[in-house]
Amino acid sequence: MKIWRDLAFSGLLIRLNGESWAASDAQQPLVASTGRKPNIVFILSDDQDLHMDSLSYMPFLKQHLTDYGTTFNRHYCTNALCCPSRVSLWTGKAAHNTNVTDVNPPYGGYPKFASQGFNSAYLPIWLQEAGYNTYYVGKLFNAQTVDNYHSPHAAGWTGSDFLLDPYTYEYLNATFQRNHDHPVSYEGRYSADVIAEKAYGFLEGGLRSAAQKPFFLVIAPTAPHSNVHINDNLIDGNFTEKSVIQSPPVSAERHKHLFADAKVPRTKHFNPKEPHGVSWISRLPEQNETNIDFNDHFYRSRLRALQSVDEMIDSVVSRLQEAGALENTFIFYTTDNGYHIGQHRLQPGKQCAFEEDINVPLVVRGPGIPEGLASDIVTSHTDLAPTLMRLAGTALRDDFDGTSIPLTAPELQEAVETRQEHVNVEMWGIIMSEGKYGSVLYPNHTYKALRLVGQDYSYLYTMWCSGEHELYDLVTDPYETHNLLAHDTSNLTTFALPYIHSAEAQAPLNLPTTTFSTAHTPNNTTFNPPLIHLLPRLDTLLMLLKTCKARQCTHPWEILHPAGDVRNLHDALRAEYDDFYERQQQRVEFSRCEKGYIKESEGPEGVVVWRGVDEIGVRGGGRWEHLV
Ligand SMILES: *[C@@H]1O[C@H](CO)[C@@H](O)[C@H](O)[C@H]1NC(C)=O
Ligand SMILES: *[C@@H]1O[C@H](CO)[C@@H](O)[C@H](O)[C@H]1NC(C)=O
Ligand SMILES: *[C@@H]1O[C@H](CO)[C@@H](O)[C@H](O)[C@H]1NC(C)=O
Ligand SMILES: *[C@@H]1O[C@H](CO)[C@@H](O)[C@H](O)[C@H]1NC(C)=O
Ligand SMILES: *[C@@H]1O[C@H](CO)[C@@H](O)[C@H](O)[C@H]1NC(C)=O
Ligand SMILES: *[C@@H]1O[C@H](CO)[C@@H](O)[C@H](O)[C@H]1NC(C)=O
Ligand SMILES: *[C@@H]1O[C@H](CO)[C@@H](O)[C@H](O)[C@H]1NC(C)=O
Ligand SMILES: *[C@@H]1O[C@H](CO)[C@@H](O)[C@H](O)[C@H]1NC(C)=O
Repeated sequence: MKIWRDLAFSGLLIRLNGESWAASDAQQPLVASTGRKPNIVFILSDDQDLHMDSLSYMPFLKQHLTDYGTTFNRHYCTNALCCPSRVSLWTGKAAHNTNVTDVNPPYGGYPKFASQGFNSAYLPIWLQEAGYNTYYVGKLFNAQTVDNYHSPHAAGWTGSDFLLDPYTYEYLNATFQRNHDHPVSYEGRYSADVIAEKAYGFLEGGLRSAAQKPFFLVIAPTAPHSNVHINDNLIDGNFTEKSVIQSPPVSAERHKHLFADAKVPRTKHFNPKEPHGVSWISRLPEQNETNIDFNDHFYRSRLRALQSVDEMIDSVVSRLQEAGALENTFIFYTTDNGYHIGQHRLQPGKQCAFEEDINVPLVVRGPGIPEGLASDIVTSHTDLAPTLMRLAGTALRDDFDGTSIPLTAPELQEAVETRQEHVNVEMWGIIMSEGKYGSVLYPNHTYKALRLVGQDYSYLYTMWCSGEHELYDLVTDPYETHNLLAHDTSNLTTFALPYIHSAEAQAPLNLPTTTFSTAHTPNNTTFNPPLIHLLPRLDTLLMLLKTCKARQCTHPWEILHPAGDVRNLHDALRAEYDDFYERQQQRVEFSRCEKGYIKESEGPEGVVVWRGVDEIGVRGGGRWEHLV
């Protein structure tokens, strides 16, 4: 894992074996030459990190998927929380368009998914229409419970076996609910192994009829999520520290002894001497040894829990191979959101916009997909439904907020030049930590974030409901420890103004010119625009993305500059647009913190569209284009 990470740098595709890559060597069609629609196996783990090296502990994943497929180094979730992320994944829509923004009612969970109408408009239904048998085993959404699982039943599945709350995350006392049957308790059985067995059953079913109908099989174990015991009903307004008991994930007996020495990587931002970030994060205390030891134990428990998932990958791939179906099957491996332990002094958890929480594993193998390749193009969870629709040979819906992911070598190569460079990350409501120490249940964890990764630059810009801003330059600061907006935060909703009068802001940022040779940072540090010019561009982009729909979400520069001559941040930084971005646009802001998507509290919407200098005689034209 380490090897290819170091090899792969910005914008370039590099083969593991060091051969130089040629466009002509992989012209196979995306769909196998038999003309049959391909089968799709989609494995979705829960809360799995990319940045704490969890993939390095999964040898079968490497052997069967990474070595035979393409790894997307810059794959992002758009909401780092299980249920909203899964709803975005299975609908292809951003959370601001699903309005499923939480794990529990009233703002999220399975009931909200259903009441928003998605039970008749999500991927399995479209794949059935495209001629697929569809199967699902494991966790679908939070708050799909032993009481509400049948009102309504989750639609779109030829066969299903769902984990149900309140037992979803009880590794040794899970409750499953098959097709339209009654829920069944599996007390004493290890849930990841039960899921694997159930998955093999569905796989046999899919393979039996694969000659007539292709199949789509989702396997969604809870590993490496923490073990959760739910004490009472989790209606948002009543959620307290006592509502759930979280403990480290449980592994199968046969894996309990593994990785005794493994520890959370001690990166620069691990439990730092100085606090980082804004809002409640900036007030976290440094962790003591007892706390760190426990968190390392938590980390090892995650790696052990993942072993059952890894073994399951081996069995699934072997079975596909025996059945002669492997060459006509795409296999996806990803997770709903990432995870942090100790970085920025955070206790175990997710929900932040830091790289640990949003940059997640995505590995894809299948016919026509380059083997052993690592790509640095930017992709996100809202791209997955469109990608799967395309593999199924069916038309993409025009309300998708993502685009299909390039999968063949020529497509991947072209995407280096043409692919979007942004991800819109959103979050609403309460954040909780999952460890044993320093429990956090903070009510105002609502923010809008923009992650931008270009050839020469890499930024995270976050606007919080409290009015605080964060901007990290990941080229010079890959661990996001130096907030460039740490000063003047009280006065930044109109930040263009204070900065215009500040000589400091006029100057280049003068950041250290150290280069970092990881896949997560471009290597060009000569790109260094003054904050006064940079920030208004980022803010305008976020302003557009926070309420975007469909193509606005994937091609925002085209909305701002309809002539098509601005395709990225680089282009937008031309001096001729200074006034347009710095004086004519509204600014992203909140009027208060809410636990859900309450429009009235989320400030102005819409951007001014560039109309050119000549057309109206005024730079930018001054015309408001409201994007709602
Ligand atoms: C296991 O789950 C069942 C419900 O399926 C519950 O009745 C039982 O109390 C649970 N057992 C333990 C030990 O928590
Ligand atoms: C919280 O619980 C109380 C008592 O059980 C109930 O009356 C109230 O409606 C609940 N609040 C919400 C927001 O569900
Ligand atoms: C370490 O920190 C935790 C969490 O703040 C606290 O509960 C515990 O008492 C501390 N232990 C020691 C030995 O200081
Ligand atoms: C915000 O900045 C402006 C311009 O520098 C200044 O005039 C104003 O007093 C500041 N407001 C606050 C609340 O600091
Ligand atoms: C930096 O990136 C360029 C391409 O953008 C590449 O040619 C060059 O070798 C890289 N340099 C280092 C030191 O990685
Ligand atoms: C680095 O960035 C500068 C400024 O944006 C640009 O002019 C230059 O071409 C870039 N160099 C490389 C190797 O990409
Ligand atoms: C949360 O936000 C609300 C409304 O914006 C505010 O009244 C409250 O003080 C905030 N609470 C905390 C703990 O920051
Ligand atoms: C999202 O759902 C919540 C809860 O039902 C509702 O109050 C809110 O108005 C909805 N937001 C939008 C933008 O529709």
